[in-house]
Amino acid sequence: DEVHAEGMEGIEIGEHGYKYRIVDGLMVPPYVTPTRYNASRTVVTRPTDVCYCSFPKSGSTWLATVLYLLLNDGVEPEGRPLRSNLHWMESSWTYPRTQAEVDALPSPRIFKSHMPHRMALAGGPRNSPCKHIYIARNPKDVAVSYYHFESGKAWSGRYNGTWEHWLRIFTEGRVQRGDWFEHVLSWWEQRDAPNLLFLKYEDLKSDFRGQLRRIAAYLQVQLSAEAEERIVSATTFAHMRAAGFSNHKHIADFEGFFRKGEIGSWKDRFTMAQSEAFDKLCRQRMAGSGLEFDFE
Ligand code: A3P
Repeated sequence: DEVHAEGMEGIEIGEHGYKYRIVDGLMVPPYVTPTRYNASRTVVTRPTDVCYCSFPKSGSTWLATVLYLLLNDGVEPEGRPLRSNLHWMESSWTYPRTQAEVDALPSPRIFKSHMPHRMALAGGPRNSPCKHIYIARNPKDVAVSYYHFESGKAWSGRYNGTWEHWLRIFTEGRVQRGDWFEHVLSWWEQRDAPNLLFLKYEDLKSDFRGQLRRIAAYLQVQLSAEAEERIVSATTFAHMRAAGFSNHKHIADFEGFFRKGEIGSWKDRFTMAQSEAFDKLCRQRMAGSGLEFDFE
């Protein structure tokens, strides 16, 4: 069909079979087409819309589940996968595609994006009335999670290189969605905007209830004790992996979204030398930003 035909042009194949496309100067997955990107960038949102964004593999599916449940009194959807309640305009796989299709969706709506701030959905916090939420995760765990995700699977970038090579291209920003430091810092710099909430994966792991209440307050959702309990139990890693509603089971091999769900899985892959070099790079790239991650 039309969406598919549009999706076939401009796909490039890099080292080790890595598939990607360049849109507006950024390396993105093949299903992010220029047309869809433009539609997501210029979409007109409502103040009740919630738009979440992250670099890939940073806990966005976890956050999305929390957001959906917060807006639905902690009740999981029946029959419809959670995914169908998350609107991902930049992907040619999914709907809505146009402003008219967006306008036809009932509020409150949840939009997903993986763009750096300069390419943000609806022009980002300063240009749109919706509530933006960004989630960041420590880059060593992101690098490992992303390596697993992008390796081989039909729906991924079909990368078939080694961890060592992957770490090099990740460090150089030559992976889909580009440079991790640029991505995260571009949103971090916007954190004072009243319609942006900046979250960390590690904080959700260490104090889920505290972060849940913080998100609820930001969204101006009254969180009852019962709803809070429902959300806590519905968003554990074990429950999310097992539950049909959010784990993409309808697409073969989607276990990439629920692999380990832990802090520190970088230790399974990084050698001592790789870890030291990466820590040094982190200190350089993030110096003075005020943003810090605890890797342990
Ligand atoms: P790992 O590969 O380290 O396990 P995203 O949804 O942005 O693609 O991020 C995927 C990462 O979030 C995966 O990390 C996945 O396991 C983890 N994750 C998914 N659900 C989670 C949950 N409920 N709690 C903790 N981590 C979760």
